[in-house]
Amino acid sequence: MSNVVVSDAVRTSTMSYKLKFLKPGDDIFNEDRSDVDKTSGTSFIYNPHHSMTIDKQRQRLPVFPARNHILYLIEKFQTTIVVGETGSGKSTQIPQYLRESGWPVDGIVGITQPRRVACTSLATRVADECDVILGREVGYSIRFDDRCIPGTTQIKYMTEGILVREMMADPLLRQYSVMILDEVHERTLYTDIVLGLMKKILKRRRDLRLVISSATVDADQLYNFFNFNTTNNKEKDTAAVISVEGRTHPVDIHYLEEGAADYVKCSVETVMKIHKKEPAGDVLVFLTGVEEVDNCVSYLKEEAASLKKNEDSLLILPMHGSLSNNEQLRAFQSSPVGVRKVVVATNIAETSVTIPGIVYVVDCGFAKLRWYNVKSHTDSLVVVPTSKASATQRAGRAGRVRSGKVYRLYPEEEFDKLSEVTPPEMVRTNLSPAVLSLMALGIENMLRFDFPSPPPARHLTAALDELVALGALTEVGTLTKPLGQQMAEFPLSPQLAKMLLVSGDFGCSREILSVVAMLQVQNVFITPRGKGTEAKICHRKFQVNEGDLITLLNVFTAYVKQGESKQWCVKNFINHRALRRAAEMRSRMEKLIVNFEIPIKSCEGGVDAVCKCITAGMFPNAAFLHHSGSYKTVRGQQTLHIHPSSMLYKESQPQWVLFHEVLHTSRVFMRDLTVIDPAWLLELAPHFYEKATLRNQ
Ligand code: CDP
Ligand code: MG
Repeated sequence: MSNVVVSDAVRTSTMSYKLKFLKPGDDIFNEDRSDVDKTSGTSFIYNPHHSMTIDKQRQRLPVFPARNHILYLIEKFQTTIVVGETGSGKSTQIPQYLRESGWPVDGIVGITQPRRVACTSLATRVADECDVILGREVGYSIRFDDRCIPGTTQIKYMTEGILVREMMADPLLRQYSVMILDEVHERTLYTDIVLGLMKKILKRRRDLRLVISSATVDADQLYNFFNFNTTNNKEKDTAAVISVEGRTHPVDIHYLEEGAADYVKCSVETVMKIHKKEPAGDVLVFLTGVEEVDNCVSYLKEEAASLKKNEDSLLILPMHGSLSNNEQLRAFQSSPVGVRKVVVATNIAETSVTIPGIVYVVDCGFAKLRWYNVKSHTDSLVVVPTSKASATQRAGRAGRVRSGKVYRLYPEEEFDKLSEVTPPEMVRTNLSPAVLSLMALGIENMLRFDFPSPPPARHLTAALDELVALGALTEVGTLTKPLGQQMAEFPLSPQLAKMLLVSGDFGCSREILSVVAMLQVQNVFITPRGKGTEAKICHRKFQVNEGDLITLLNVFTAYVKQGESKQWCVKNFINHRALRRAAEMRSRMEKLIVNFEIPIKSCEGGVDAVCKCITAGMFPNAAFLHHSGSYKTVRGQQTLHIHPSSMLYKESQPQWVLFHEVLHTSRVFMRDLTVIDPAWLLELAPHFYEKATLRNQ
């Protein structure tokens, strides 16, 4: 393995990006980064009443007529579950109703979100509606960014992860009078942890109020979970459910006689049939991912182009989270008379956004979910059949305006075989972050913890195993000091947190900070249509044999060296927004590790130190080249392939790699690779990889 991080191409290029790393005190660290784009990767927020005054807008929302009823329930019951579709005003209005009726007097009103961007955009909107400055009465707290003033802030938006970290310092959440758990239908890993922990806290703090808000109607499970009434007397219930659903219309359900061989093509045919046979009304197509959406849009555009002059025309629009705001806006605008709008969407349109005017829904019957393979310790994204609840939710999107129709691209018998609800992440993803957080909260016997959906015991054991190997837990399952404690406090996955926390020992904390920051952003490399070759030549300058993570490090280093210039990014087909965000995250992470007294050092180009440090965190994700030509994980022997987005794709296949992510599409792919020496696995994770296992490969 070479001892330089930069590739030959980089060193010999005219600009020569010889590695020079930043030092604290360099200008970048003093830069005011308040202009950083906070909306990247969000779903666009559509406000149909934006021309009205704020008061009028607030009164038009579906929660408004229920305002007093909601406040009454919160007074009377310890837990109130509010169900209402996206856009009804749950996230922006309920905290304001509480503020207007004086709840923040005894403590603040907290509101959690699964996504960071939702915290910032909701807090901004609510500060606006309340006519206060963001960060004072209304604030937010997300990882690496806290905009609240103790004693002043009354409404605080935060991520679920932040709330769990606050519980580490204040187990009974004494500073809060009401906690609102928002978007609970998403049932992320942290939603479930927070639900379980809130139940414990509610039992100890009878004055605390909990509001749960959800966009789907399956509230029964949560009602049962939070109703502490053990008698038959309803008067003694401690939980209540209120629905603020708008009026819905009946939806006719249509099935295929036989399953579709290719649901993307089948959805195209279905849309064309609707267009030719059905009266006016817009169409919403549900597919599982961006690639499918793009394919479907181009097939549909071909079909639309061949429509006859006397036929109504079609307006085909994609809808997914990685579109720009302007692109998303088009899907919300109504189409002119004589034009039928077809919106082709990912799961984002199921609950995250509501597209107006939809009368027909085409449902492919599948969704992409994160799924854990306990044998190989890998978490991957897999396309699986939807649940009945999800199919019903998708169908409901056709009945907002008038009675509608849904076309499910599978036979009716298949519907009967679907599971009732989508399993929450707690039962299907890697539990090591959850176990680490709960351990830090003093909950050592996970098997006895009251989870809303208990995770499989095997997954818990695998998580414990991984945390012991990472050095966060002792063999007897207690948190190590300081490593385990610091890992639990660090707002990153245990693997990345470990990498950063030991980076001082490897003498490369500066480089690891950059690597981890770059892993937090997406789509670093841009390949504009028609400029593929040019972009490839530019990107090649950064590529090195050590793999994608070191390539990302080179990009970041060069970006800093060039003064974080936007022009430089454009010229090199690099996503400036992503790099700017990475730089911001990097400086916040640096402050954190300095607090933990991790020495800030650079290995000055010694790539082995960086790769070894990556191994110290990512060793559970090791794979080797099998004689069959594909890769296999060391544990569990899961077959994997290099993802086409990796720079190692089609290059000479390295013998041993670590991956950051696994993706199941047509095959099982691994992404973000680092080439390693297998001896490091034994050196850094002897218990996880016994000699015998490695020798057998
Ligand atoms: O939480 P829920 O989906 O029920 O609704 P909400 O987020 O409270 O949004 C209520 C209204 O506020 C919507 O009509 C949005 O258009 C508007 N809103 C906004 O203009 N800007 C935001 N950042 C959030 C909401
Ligand atoms: Mg909401």
